[in-house]
Amino acid sequence: MNALTIARGIHILSIVLWMGGVAFVTMILIPAIRSSSFRGNEYYIFNLIENRFAYVARALVILAGLSGFYMIHLLDAWDRFMQIRYFWMHSMLLIWLMFILALFLIEPFFIKDHGRIVKDERNFGNLRKTQILHSIILMLSLFTIFISVLGAHGFFA
Ligand code: HEM
Repeated sequence: MNALTIARGIHILSIVLWMGGVAFVTMILIPAIRSSSFRGNEYYIFNLIENRFAYVARALVILAGLSGFYMIHLLDAWDRFMQIRYFWMHSMLLIWLMFILALFLIEPFFIKDHGRIVKDERNFGNLRKTQILHSIILMLSLFTIFISVLGAHGFFA
C-alpha cells in the first residue's frame, strides 16, 4: 500500500511538472514570441526555452511511465486495458505514447531544431500552426488528467 501511494505521488508530481511546462509553452511562450516585439529574435528565444524544456520533459515522461507501469504491476491491473470502462487508462497510455514519439523520435530526428521553422520569415505562419498543435495536445492532456482522477476514484466503476 505504501509503495502504491508513493508511486502515485511520484506519478502526479511528474505529470504536474510535465503538463505545467506544456501549458507554459502553449499559453505563454508561443503567444509571447508571436507578438511583434519579438520579431527577429524568435529563433533564439524559442530554441533557448523550448529545447531546454524538451530535456526536462523527456525525464518527466520517463518518470510518469515508470511510476504508472509500476502502479499497474502493484494493482495487478493489466486486464484493465481489455475493459472499455477503463477508457481513462487507455487515454493515459495514448497521451504518454504521443509524447514518447514526439520527444524521442520526431523532435530529435525529424525536427532537430524546432526554432529553424520559426526562423524562416516566410514560415512565420508556422508558429501559428505550432500553437494550434500545442493547444490540441494540451487540451487532450488536461482532459485525460480530469478523467483519470475520476476513474482512479471509482467514478466510472
Ligand atoms: C505509460 C503511461 C501511464 C501509465 C501506465 C499510467 C498508469 C496509472 C495508474 C495505474 C494509475 C492509478 C489508477 C488507480 O489508482 O486505479 C494512474 C493514475 C493517474 N494518472 Fe496515470 N499513467 C500513465 C500516464 C499518465 C498521463 C500521461 C497522465 C496525464 C495526462 C496521467 C495522469 C494520471 C492521473 C491524474 C491519475 C490519478 C491519480 C489519483 O487521483 O489517484 N497518467 N496512472
